[in-house]
Amino acid sequence: MNLLTQLRSLFEPALTGLAPDRAKVPDLLGAIKPAANADNGDYQANCAMALGKQLGQKPPEVAKALVAALPPNDLLEQPTVAGPGFINLRLKPEFLAKALQEIATDPKLGVSPAAKSKTFVIDLSGPNVAKPLHVGHLRSTIIGDALVRILRFLGHTVIGDNHLGDWGTQFGILLYGYKNHRDDAAFAADPVRELARLYVTIKKQFKKDDDEEDGPTDDPLKKACQEETAKLHAGDPENVALWKTFMPACLEMLRPIYERLDVKIDYALGESFYNPMLPGVVEEMLAKGIAFESKGAIVIPNAKGVVPRTEEEQQKEEPPAIVRKRDGAFTYTTTDLATIKYRAETWKPDAMLYVVGSPQALHFKTVYAQAKRWGYASTEFEHIQFGSMLNKERKKYSTSGGGAPELEELLNDAVSHGRKRYEESVTDRREHGHEVPDLGADEVARIAETIGVGAVKYADLCQSRTTDYVFDLDKMTATTGNTATYMQYAYARTRGILREGGVDEVLFGSSPPAILLGEPQERALAMQLLRFPEAVEAAAADYAPHLITAYLWDTAKAFSIFYDKCHVLKAETPELKASRLLLVDLVSRVIKQALDLLGIRVVERM
Ligand code: ARG
Repeated sequence: MNLLTQLRSLFEPALTGLAPDRAKVPDLLGAIKPAANADNGDYQANCAMALGKQLGQKPPEVAKALVAALPPNDLLEQPTVAGPGFINLRLKPEFLAKALQEIATDPKLGVSPAAKSKTFVIDLSGPNVAKPLHVGHLRSTIIGDALVRILRFLGHTVIGDNHLGDWGTQFGILLYGYKNHRDDAAFAADPVRELARLYVTIKKQFKKDDDEEDGPTDDPLKKACQEETAKLHAGDPENVALWKTFMPACLEMLRPIYERLDVKIDYALGESFYNPMLPGVVEEMLAKGIAFESKGAIVIPNAKGVVPRTEEEQQKEEPPAIVRKRDGAFTYTTTDLATIKYRAETWKPDAMLYVVGSPQALHFKTVYAQAKRWGYASTEFEHIQFGSMLNKERKKYSTSGGGAPELEELLNDAVSHGRKRYEESVTDRREHGHEVPDLGADEVARIAETIGVGAVKYADLCQSRTTDYVFDLDKMTATTGNTATYMQYAYARTRGILREGGVDEVLFGSSPPAILLGEPQERALAMQLLRFPEAVEAAAADYAPHLITAYLWDTAKAFSIFYDKCHVLKAETPELKASRLLLVDLVSRVIKQALDLLGIRVVERM
């Protein structure tokens, strides 16, 4: 029950009747939008300007004709025409009241399934196992998981796939370390810890501690590690057997992080899974004329279809990508092509979304372009990019050197901030004479965890993906402003009001009371609640979770203004009290649901 969609359907016949060119009607409908200024109305139809141009008539006249052509309906007050031809639209209070009653009995709060259900594969998280988990993978996990949840909520089929880096050069380091430096007793007691130790020990002895583990090197130690990797990839039985013993421990390093983040990913088909398919991919691409030999290597053209050869071309063109190196080794690109083929054949998705940091943009551009030529032209490929997490000095945050616990430390830090916030708010409320229940240690721990982890996720999701952002726990756990903490408090507050009002959701489940929208703050809150489907659909259409946080922020503000102005439990009449309690109940459910779409938890009291 998307209001905007309903308005557009109302306008469609009128526009079709007036527009000289029917093909342009969808564009005209697109010009119906939420009003920028609520004083002018709820929505604004800005189609008269473009339509006027098409008809060679003055926009205000066209606007009037359009209004006159609207069918009779119970949605709108009489529309008004303003300025150069804006049509201001205001929804009738009776319509809003009825619509609210409808969403009150709808578990999905008015969000209807997408008109066309699609199948998505979402490539998310993708950590390089056995290496310290990088914050970039944290972002991919959080954003990817939100997209999985949002698209599923709209009725799409979504397959989450964790493209683990489980075949890379880090295994050469582990293999070398294990063979030369292992502590058997330590490995037997705690393989996870021992492998983390070995990785760090060897990495520290590299001449230059950069992340280029597989580049050419004159460092004998790095070379020795690279040889171990090469042997693994060539199927050396000893190395393959060791790899198989390492893998469970490597995955075990990741498990607690996913658990804590409340992220479940359907599949974890890592790079190793595709290894046997790589020669076939290269053969097929060669046969189809997509891949070429170049200086002994096999390459695929860049996104423009060019393999730059002359020096001049090389200067202005993006490079091709190598799918088989001169020494016969396959690459990240080869694996991604094999992955596309496997996913396409296994799940037949309409779209494949890759939630991966911006630095890999060129890689995906090339891979997608060639995959389309290869036979996947009808698949939508989308690189869901994101920027970097920065520390307070605005430098790239990196968790290098220490093993997965570093990310755990970051979360622990967030949780201790959460606890501090909670304790501050208890003191503050007590000082203001409010009654605050004494909660047991377990419940306080759960609150701290909910605030801390929620803050990390919300901060990540609440701005447009591609911007860098500063990891600042004080700001992220602020109890005012656009933070998870603020939303979680708002939720707990609504639950408190409802408890005090003796209401549970079940009461409103089947026969919601009449809704009264006499006060402007009530009406504004009602509008805001009814716009939840718009927010979810927009977030899904743009793969932009921040449209949901923006919605949450507006909703929390509308609620706060309403609650300041309108008595709920002490409303003047029982009818008004019931109506307002239903509004509070809806705020509560909408906040909980919207946060859930972002993978963020709430607590019933805090
Ligand atoms: N493991 C990769 C990295 O850390 C990310 C994987 C992204 N997914 C993919 N299909 N390439 O850079």
